[in-house]
Amino acid sequence: MGLIYLLIFLSLGQLTQWSVARLFGKIVNPKVLARTPNIFFLGSVIIALFMAGWGMVQALSAPGITRIEINHSRLPLALDGINIIQVSDFHAGAIVGASRMKEIVSQINSLDPDLVLITGDIVDMNESGMTGVLAPLKGLRSRLGVFASAGNHEFIAGIDRSSDLLKKSGVRFLRNEGVVIDDGFLLYGIDDSSAARFGGEMPELQKIIGAEARDKFSILMYHRPWGFEEFSKQGIDIMLSGHTHRGQIWPFRYLIDIMFPRSYGLFRYRNSYLFVSRGVGTWGPPMRVGSPPEIVQLTLYASRSSIEESGPD
Ligand SMILES: [Fe+2]
Repeated sequence: MGLIYLLIFLSLGQLTQWSVARLFGKIVNPKVLARTPNIFFLGSVIIALFMAGWGMVQALSAPGITRIEINHSRLPLALDGINIIQVSDFHAGAIVGASRMKEIVSQINSLDPDLVLITGDIVDMNESGMTGVLAPLKGLRSRLGVFASAGNHEFIAGIDRSSDLLKKSGVRFLRNEGVVIDDGFLLYGIDDSSAARFGGEMPELQKIIGAEARDKFSILMYHRPWGFEEFSKQGIDIMLSGHTHRGQIWPFRYLIDIMFPRSYGLFRYRNSYLFVSRGVGTWGPPMRVGSPPEIVQLTLYASRSSIEESGPD
């Protein structure tokens, strides 16, 4: 990744140098102009190294807490003020190891959650030692439980193995199913759409999210931020997604924005809300530039709707 960064900044340096030569070629001393390629090359190397180093520091820093408050008329009064933690894209494995998982878990516990929802890409790969890497998840303290839906990486690692690993870690894995939580609302988990590529089948939405979703307040975990309008029409009030990492490393954000029109943040359609998290872990190199790790604290109220971000305490 450092090399890609170097190439990006060398290209930008080359472009800047060419522009300077075109713009000032007639007024600047040719001897001074002859030295500019070296200056731009050195500058590009320094910027690339700085960005790569900063990205590694940012990836390994304590996640910031993104606080969201949503008012919803369908929310049962008994649930007013419910404190839901969404955490996405751990990518636990060789890079995000047990000690990092332990830090994230203790940060989640410090938020005193009623419910913890993990929106996929928990397991990065199928490798030996994964049971130990995921073991800290057993330490999550949540009044109403810890639930997860499958991301594309659960399929890459092998869905049965991922399912087994999550079960051993005390996580209830919702695979194209819904459960009633605390008699107050419905929680659904739908497999990532990449399931089809791995021999799985995408069941019809109507068979998973039935008419009951229109009667009860309903939350959906779906890894990829797609289909929001359709889920809303099915009766989903809150949809939680991840997957995009918000590009993870600048400037890939711009590419991700083209692929996913809702690539990060809070969105509304009719009376439904979608929050897309940039996630807590890293895919590929342990680097995040301009997209720091995040834990989402979602509080459901009767009278407010706002979003604020804060850095780690
Ligand atoms: Fe991911």
